[in-house]
Amino acid sequence: MSEPRPAMIGFKAVNKSYGPLAALIDINEAVARGEVVVVCGPSGSGKSTLIRTANRLEEIQSGSITFDGQDVHAPMSSAQLNRLRSRIGFVFQSFNLFPHLSALENVMLSPVKVNGTPRAEAREKALALLDRVGLSARRDAFPGQLSGGQQQRVAIARALAMEPPAMLFDEPTSALDPEMVAEVLSVMRALARDGMTMMCVTHEMGFARDVADRVWFMDAGRIVETAPPEDFFGRARHPRAQRFLSELRGR
Ligand SMILES: Nc1ncnc2c1ncn2[C@@H]1O[C@H](COP(=O)(O)OP(=O)(O)OP(=O)(O)O)[C@@H](O)[C@H]1O
Ligand SMILES: [Mg+2]
Repeated sequence: MSEPRPAMIGFKAVNKSYGPLAALIDINEAVARGEVVVVCGPSGSGKSTLIRTANRLEEIQSGSITFDGQDVHAPMSSAQLNRLRSRIGFVFQSFNLFPHLSALENVMLSPVKVNGTPRAEAREKALALLDRVGLSARRDAFPGQLSGGQQQRVAIARALAMEPPAMLFDEPTSALDPEMVAEVLSVMRALARDGMTMMCVTHEMGFARDVADRVWFMDAGRIVETAPPEDFFGRARHPRAQRFLSELRGR
């Protein structure tokens, strides 16, 4: 038996509600260091809520969440919370790049502003990251001059610039035209191959099948099944997961 890997992101007895609506119910799971978890499930099942609690974009009512050993929901000042968030790479459906800054400047911004990295050093690093996401040639372009897929790759480079110990993705490809989905997924595949710890909400089941170490399936606020992709896609146990998969196949 291999040693259990220490958790990078740990959820313990987490409950969250929006008013009377229970959005997360008794979540007990962990993403191990170096693990890639794909979170899937029907619309409204709590996937975004779950991932947003991990960097405290959403508060929780009870339980605890740790990120790289730190208690995410402990009482802290807004400065401490900002510092914590800056260590957690988060990529959304919408890219949220600064429109008046070039691709390069977008990637350099946080290291310079938050970490006080000297500009020359931040520039070197940002250039290497843009190269990694295949966008060296577009470094001086503004977001409005880039395709959606290119903007999302800049957003990934920007998150990586803070050297996060883990990356969270919430449907990073769902706002993209089909021909741009592949280029973003291929950057994510490369990240996973390089050992990045990743928690990804995505409907890209091909990505889940090829890249995930485990799939978490959510239904009505609970994680009702966790399994390696070959088991999840081959023989899901939970009836709701079986239905979800058969609906996917039927499309
Ligand atoms: N800010 C909010 N205020 C009130 N209810 C919310 C809020 N955000 C989400 N919810 C509700 O919480 C539940 C879980 O929502 P969530 O966005 O986490 O689902 P999801 O699995 O990400 O869905 P989708 O696949 O459509 O993105 C849903 O019933 C949703 O309507
Ligand atoms: Mg969502």
